[in-house]
Order: sequence, then C-alpha cells, then structure tokens
Amino acid sequence: MNLATHATAPRWLRLLLLAAAVGGLLLGMWAGLIRLGWPWPVLRPVLPVLHGPLMACGFLGVLIGLERAVGTGWRWAYAGPALVATGTLVALAGVPGWPGPLLTTLGSLIVTAVLVGLVRIQPALFTATMAVGGAAWVGGNLLWMARFPLSVAALWWTGFLVLTIAGERLELSRMLRLSRPAQWLFVGAAALLVVGMIVSVAAYSAGMALVGIALAGLSLWLLRYDIARRRVKAGGQARFTAIALLSGYGWLAVGGVLAVAYAGVSAGPYYDAILHSIFLGFVFAMIFAHAPIVFPAVLGVAMVYSTRFYAPLVLLHASLLLRVGGDLAGWPQARLWGGLLNAAVILLFLASTVISLRPRAGATTYAAAQRESARRG
Ligand code: HEM
Repeated sequence: MNLATHATAPRWLRLLLLAAAVGGLLLGMWAGLIRLGWPWPVLRPVLPVLHGPLMACGFLGVLIGLERAVGTGWRWAYAGPALVATGTLVALAGVPGWPGPLLTTLGSLIVTAVLVGLVRIQPALFTATMAVGGAAWVGGNLLWMARFPLSVAALWWTGFLVLTIAGERLELSRMLRLSRPAQWLFVGAAALLVVGMIVSVAAYSAGMALVGIALAGLSLWLLRYDIARRRVKAGGQARFTAIALLSGYGWLAVGGVLAVAYAGVSAGPYYDAILHSIFLGFVFAMIFAHAPIVFPAVLGVAMVYSTRFYAPLVLLHASLLLRVGGDLAGWPQARLWGGLLNAAVILLFLASTVISLRPRAGATTYAAAQRESARRG
C-alpha cells in the first residue's frame, strides 16, 4: 500500500539506508560462506555468528523498513530502518550482549508501528498480514536479545519474511476478488504459522513441524490463488515476474516439507536445506521478481526490463538445487560450491539491476511506481 505522492525524505537518506542494506547483504554472505566452510579471513570474530541477524535484519529488515518509509512518506518511519542498521553495526563492532539486538528490536518496533498505522488507515487482510509479519520480526529480535538459540529466532524471522511477502501478494491479487473460503484458507495457514512460532519457544521440534505445515499450506495457497499464475502467458516483464514468483512458491513448499520431515534440527546440512530453501529459494525469488518495482521507487529512477533478468533467476535455482541436493545427499562439496554459487548469483543480480537503472524523466512518485507494478501484475 502506498500513501506517498512524493518522496518526503532526502535522497541521501534513502541512499544511505539502501547502502546499509546492501552492506548487510555483502557481509552476511561473507559470514555465510565462512559458516559453510570456505577458509577465508573471518574479518571480525563475531561475523560468522552474525550471519542470520545480518541477513534477516541488517539486509532484509532494513530494506523492508525503508520500502515502508518511502511508501508511506512518513518521516518518522525512517527511524525504523535507521535503528536496525545502527543495531547491526553495534553488533558487528563486537559490543557484547544486548545493545545491538536492543537497537534492532526498537527499529523493528517502529517498522511494525508503521504497519499497524497502515491497518488503521486501511483495515484489510493484506495490511493485517503484514502487521503480524512485523510483530513476528519483533518477536524474533527479542528472542535474539534474550539469547535464545538463533535457530528459534530464525523460525520467527521466517514468519516475518513469509508473512510480509504473502501480504504484498495478497494486495496485488486483490483485483481477483478472492472468495470467502479462499480468504479463510489463507487466514488458517497464516494463523498456523504464528502458532508454530510460539510453540517453538517451548517445544522447538513441534513448533518447527507446525511452521513447516503452515509454509507448505501457504505455498499451495499462493500457487493456487496468486495472480501470478494468470500472468505467465503475458509477455515481457509481467511474464518474468510471474515465473519468478511461481518458482519461489515451489521452494517455499520444499522448505515446508523439509521442516516437517526434519523437525527439530538446529544446525548442520538438513537445517541448512530447510532455511535456505525458504530464504534463498523463496525470499530471493521474490526479491528478483519485485526488484523492477522496488528499486526504482526507492531510488527515484527507472529500470529497463530485459530478458537478461532471467539469468540470475535460473542460476539461483540451479545453484540452490546443487546446495540443497548436497545437503540432503551428504555431499559436502556440492553444498560448499552450491553456497558459493548462491552468493555469486546474488552479486550478478545486483550488477544486472544497477546496469538496468536509468534516470527517470519527470517527477518520481512511489505511488506511480506501484500503479505501474499493479498494471504489470
Ligand atoms: C550466499 C548465501 C548464503 C550462505 C552461503 C549461507 C550460509 C549459511 C550457513 C552455512 C548456515 C548454518 C547452517 C548450519 O548450521 O549448517 C546458515 C544459517 C542461517 N542463515 Fe544463511 N546463508 C546464505 C543466505 C541466507 C539468507 C539470504 C538468509 C536470509 C534471511 C539467511 C539466513 C540464515 C539464518 C537465519 C540462519 C540461522 C542462524 C544461525 O544458525 O546462525 N542465509 N546460513
């Protein structure tokens, strides 16, 4: 949902926050590769442990908070991503204990307050879903601050990302006029996800299994009801977006099924396969799909679609198949190289995005970018 008719924060602030998010992504990937076993410099002793927080908060949290701030045009909303970025920096600086997680939690609270504000302006299933997603993020951050195992926080961060994206998709599928049963099916799956997250705090294995069932359910729901299925036959960018979305829903189903099959794992190859089917297969496919909408809106530029966009998408899925296949088959070399290729594909995607950006003639509005995205599906 967008309310802004013009970008109200200075461009430098948007650029700074975007740079912070990209920095979080790059450091997060480096940390992930070290965790995977690449014998590279650790840079900072805390870095490997911070891989999950860097990715879920420092990168995705900052990006999502920034997108909400630009979308609403509320100046105070920028405090959310700014605090999350600061919290990430504090943790990276090696300040022990709660200061980094606390700042991050405060930032996520502000982002959630923005989302609640949107529910009040437009009470609807999609705004409520995103607000619950924000609350899940706050919950995960509190668990991180309270020094629960990161594997528990990771389930809450999963809830944050999946509900945020599902809410976005619900919004864009509004024109399909979903039937009551379809809406209730969605609510049921989302509610089960929340129940699973809560249960995981006391009974990790049972909670993870419930989360897995909910994710599989949500993926089937998205495959069935999302507008994407109808847009595959369209040409150009609409077709690319639809294919990226559907491929991501496939990975969400894989992640859900694996979470049920291996419920209770909190480290090692099966854990890696579950988390990254969701975080790379689903979340990154969504990022690839929405990049032509989000980047122009945040940066105030245009993005020219090209069939070149398919290259990172196809390579993302191929490299993830190698990694998850290696995880499940007990083949460490495939996991190692698959992970490295995942990172390379993300860099390729960033490069491909940058070279597709063009200065936009006339005034740039977030609302205009969103209207354009709705038109293209
Ligand atoms: C190039 C990409 C990535 C690599 C190489 C990578 C690598 C890893 C590794 C090796 C682990 C530990 C798994 C184990 O115990 O064996 C892990 C955990 C985790 N990853 Fe990733 N990852 C990547 C992308 C992502 C992304 C995009 C996210 C997004 C949220 C993410 C979030 C997490 C989380 C939350 C954990 C669990 C936290 C923890 O145990 O510290 N990762 N990752």
